[in-house]
Amino acid sequence: MEQTIKVELGARSYDVRVGAGLLDSLGAAAGELGSVRQAAVIADSNIASSYGRRAVESLASSGINATMFEYPSGEANKTLASFSDLIDAIFAIAPAIDRDLLIVACGGGVTGDVAGYVAASTLRGVRWMQCPTSLLADVDASVGGKTGINHASGKNLIGAFYQPSGVLVDVETLKTLPPEELRSGLGECVKHAVIRDATLLDFIADNTRAILDCQCDVMCDLIARNVAIKAAVVAGDEREAGERAHLNFGHTVGHAIETIVGYGTISHGAAVSLGMIAANDMAVSRGLIAPADAACVRDALEALELPTTYSGLDAEQVWDVMQRDKKARGGRVRMVLPAAIGKVDIFDDINAAEVARAVAALG
Ligand code: GLY
Repeated sequence: MEQTIKVELGARSYDVRVGAGLLDSLGAAAGELGSVRQAAVIADSNIASSYGRRAVESLASSGINATMFEYPSGEANKTLASFSDLIDAIFAIAPAIDRDLLIVACGGGVTGDVAGYVAASTLRGVRWMQCPTSLLADVDASVGGKTGINHASGKNLIGAFYQPSGVLVDVETLKTLPPEELRSGLGECVKHAVIRDATLLDFIADNTRAILDCQCDVMCDLIARNVAIKAAVVAGDEREAGERAHLNFGHTVGHAIETIVGYGTISHGAAVSLGMIAANDMAVSRGLIAPADAACVRDALEALELPTTYSGLDAEQVWDVMQRDKKARGGRVRMVLPAAIGKVDIFDDINAAEVARAVAALG
């Protein structure tokens, strides 16, 4: 059942292992990195006493002196203050830390982002590993080395591309994941299918019940397929100069919706689901994909219990938020639209009228 996917990045290559019970292999995996004497396990406060503790115990059983540091769960805490608190706590426990320190991120994507940035910053960079415990982190955030924190001016504005030394995806941790968070990760799985692999959409459609029930073997296959897609995209464009932006499919309108209705009011996956519906609608209007292709994606999202409609959105407000993003993109609103299921392109000629039409259609 266990599968290994290599993220091919030359000297910065690493393996993503996907299997059941892998959290207990953390110590052995850390030992294989060589010269790891101390570890700081940065664990999401929701799972610190369960998975965080197991991570520490596994490291200790391999002779690594491990200490746990709790990250106060949630996007709202992805701040300079939390980052600074973690650095202070690590130096307080181990004032003589050196490059043999290993940082371990244990939790969802937010914990991985913060812990990775702590690793990138401590002593100008120490090794780190990821033990993701949410589906979104399994299939997306834990792969590719994006680390960072938010700033009052916007999300993820402070950070670094800093690849981990390894990722252990223990599918058993999904058993305790709230259903809403499971669905959030499933939105990213559909995204990967649309951008790179039509057969993944078939796999999701054929295994929907098993996926929603988190059956271990099916989840291993699902996660491994998604990690392979993400790994290939990252290997082709580590620092998002080009094709890595394909991973933003569904996110432009999705982020605008999250901003408008409020983070926490709608899950990231739900917002991305709506964003994908809007993008597909625009692609159909442009004659890029057939209505039947858009319907396939909609069916998959609905079967996974993700939203495909949302009433009360103000299309003008959505466009305004999308335009505010344009500052970072050379003055034009850019969107990723499908050219077929499994293939996308980036368009920078997006206009207000087509976005308004697609957003109105969500209602
Ligand atoms: N989650 C998008 C990326 O890693 O590029």
